Amino acid sequence: MEHFENKPITRICCIGAGYVGGPTCAVIANQCPHIRVCVVDSNPNRIEAWNSDTLPIYEPGLKEIVEKCRNRNLFFSTDLQKEIGDAELIFISVNTPTKMFGFGKGKAADLQNLENVSRLIAEISVQSKIVVEKSTVPVRAAESIDRILNANKRDDVHFEILSNPEFLAEGTAIKDLLQPDRILIGGGNSTDSKIALEKLCEVYRNWIDNDRIITTNTWSSELSKLAANAFLAQRISSINAISAICESTGADVNEVAHAIGSDTRIGKRFLQASVGFGGSCFQKDVLNLVYLSEYLKLPEVADYWHQIILMNDYQKRRFALRITECLFNTITNKRIAILGFAFKANTGDTRETPAKFVCKHLLDEGAKLSIYDPKVPKAQIIQDLTMITDLNSEQLNECVNIVNSPFDAAMDSHAIVICTDWDEFKNLDYEKMYETMRKPAFLFDGRNIVDVDHLQSIGYNVEKIGRRSSHAQICSIRTKSI
Ligand code: UDX
Ligand code: ADP
Repeated sequence: MEHFENKPITRICCIGAGYVGGPTCAVIANQCPHIRVCVVDSNPNRIEAWNSDTLPIYEPGLKEIVEKCRNRNLFFSTDLQKEIGDAELIFISVNTPTKMFGFGKGKAADLQNLENVSRLIAEISVQSKIVVEKSTVPVRAAESIDRILNANKRDDVHFEILSNPEFLAEGTAIKDLLQPDRILIGGGNSTDSKIALEKLCEVYRNWIDNDRIITTNTWSSELSKLAANAFLAQRISSINAISAICESTGADVNEVAHAIGSDTRIGKRFLQASVGFGGSCFQKDVLNLVYLSEYLKLPEVADYWHQIILMNDYQKRRFALRITECLFNTITNKRIAILGFAFKANTGDTRETPAKFVCKHLLDEGAKLSIYDPKVPKAQIIQDLTMITDLNSEQLNECVNIVNSPFDAAMDSHAIVICTDWDEFKNLDYEKMYETMRKPAFLFDGRNIVDVDHLQSIGYNVEKIGRRSSHAQICSIRTKSI
């Protein structure tokens, strides 16, 4: 007997009101007015923020959609019991960070949240439901969810588990959700699984062409998410590796990226050399793939993917050291302006942001920092620096000043360090800033976004990623010693 009626989904519950769950459900509610969508979270502050004028995350276009749909067919609630109970389809969008203890420490994904919500779904449900993993999970996590659900459910309830990884990137989440390159849904072979998969496809078909919806088996879907992030991260580490060669030879990484990216087989995107990639996904997912490969006793495969992370660490370290060395090998008590703290433009997210690493290095060397970011709250920057440095809050207060404009940051500083590719940093009045700085004034562009010739004509010493340093001598010595 089949457990699901062949009628469209009308009630969706999403567990986890974060960067994935919030925007995804806002867009589903917007595109499917006939579906009631409720996002639940165990954190009452998050839910309160989603129900307020100040959403808990910044994402271009999100506020408009939330304001349009909220309390119409989009709801945010802490009542997990009721909303899970009423839903026909449940998205699991809880966080699965890298495990920081026990077996797999530093590599495997921590699946506590996933297990907790699976147990809760089984306990609450009195009707059959489709359960969809949206959180990025290790391959075969669906099997674990299935076993937990089936070991704890009522006899008359049936669960179908689908994998439907989310590929949105922060900063462009709404566009990515409205016009995705593809939707990926993995399921099983049973009739129930096929019905469940069709019902989820039907939700997406409200605004996405069928030929963009890819269906696979569950394990392919789970692995594709890890593989996609690993391939993207690999491109960045590859161009960053080339940037190191450029800095020692006189080649320019932007020119190289343009030249190789013009080959349609390589393509232009994700070849922007930088201070290193950040964000909640790339490092976590590559490490997850490394752990999986080790677990499967494929050490060569594990080493291959691990190199992406080692290269990223090397890139962040190289950039931080270049700052110290160009500033005559001492930055103790020197004021340095940090422009940008988010891991990329158009987000307030600081998870794994390279800025954190650069700041730690500069603070370890005794520098005083003035930090400006248009979207990251002051409290978040302080919290991140407290976690990464050995400084207590009193010491941090002495060494770090969070300011409200790039001009305040540059005032009286020896150097400007660009850590995030915010548009506003491309065309600042750098001449005005130069006048207020100590001389010689340096600018370290970790995102290759400024006009070097213009800045040099003002008088700046400009250091860019992937371009020979004006201190080439120092840098060649340094590269040997890293
Ligand atoms: C990524 C994937 O793109 C997305 O599909 C997945 O769902 C989640 O992980 P996200 O981390 O939000 O998205 O941002 P992304 O645009 O991929 O950038 C990640 C990091 O790489 C950022 O720090 C960014 O600045 C950096 N980056 C990106 C580069 O340094 N160079 C590039 O060419 C592209
Ligand atoms: P992502 O970037 O993957 O969306 P976030 O950390 O932004 O990750 O969001 C995940 C959300 O999941 C958080 O708001 C967190 O409170 C929520 N969450 C984690 N575990 C549970 C749980 N057991 N029950 C309900 N919500 C949970």
